[in-house]
Amino acid sequence: MNTPNTSYASLKDYYRWHARIYDLTRWAFLFGRASLIRRAADQVTSPARILEIGCGTGRNLAALAQHFPHAQITGLDLSSDMLERARAKVQGFGSRMVLLHQAYDAPVATEAKFDIIILCYSLSMINPGFDEVLRICKSDLSPSGVVAVADFHDSRWTWFRRWMGVNHVRMDGHLLEELNRQFDGQFCQIQRAYATLWRHLLFIGKSR
Ligand SMILES: C[S@@+](CC[C@H](N)C(=O)[O-])C[C@H]1O[C@@H](n2cnc3c(N)ncnc32)[C@H](O)[C@@H]1O
Repeated sequence: MNTPNTSYASLKDYYRWHARIYDLTRWAFLFGRASLIRRAADQVTSPARILEIGCGTGRNLAALAQHFPHAQITGLDLSSDMLERARAKVQGFGSRMVLLHQAYDAPVATEAKFDIIILCYSLSMINPGFDEVLRICKSDLSPSGVVAVADFHDSRWTWFRRWMGVNHVRMDGHLLEELNRQFDGQFCQIQRAYATLWRHLLFIGKSR
């Protein structure tokens, strides 16, 4: 795998260890993922093809496969340690599940494009480059397809934003700004977590 961006290398290093504790810990703070899938289904009832960018350990891939039993699903991630866990989780879904080990730095659709592209808590870790990733998504989306994002939005606490920065996460409202610039919003919700500690974002949009 070619990793020209130095931030890719540090993310791969980060997940080399975190992959081991990912599923045990992330349920307590990566909120909104199941809800995002339900909301996406309101917009596109029977998608033929779905892509998750930054699929991690495959939690959403399994949920998507159950929610959309006729869809072809592709999960993409730059971390082999995360993908190894995903592979174990989705092996029961057979050939309708494809895993790609790569950074999302070019379109991946071959003949048919994707009806839903999901990004759950990956976009806030792509710094620099989150805006370019959204541009690439647009070339991977079918004309009536939607991009669906669940991610950190912001926090009023400097110490918390700094701590999240140590964990490769940027959370200063920049994602919603860029999503609204590039997509026509169909659904948007911002919710608080742990009182005022942070806010997370659910967004579904169509290409402009
Ligand atoms: C916080 S995890 C989220 C995993 C999964 N989406 C979930 O909801 O549990 C972020 C994932 O995005 C992947 N990732 C980050 N930047 C990426 C990029 N540019 N291309 C592909 N994967 C990326 C990381 O390796 C990591 O597995």
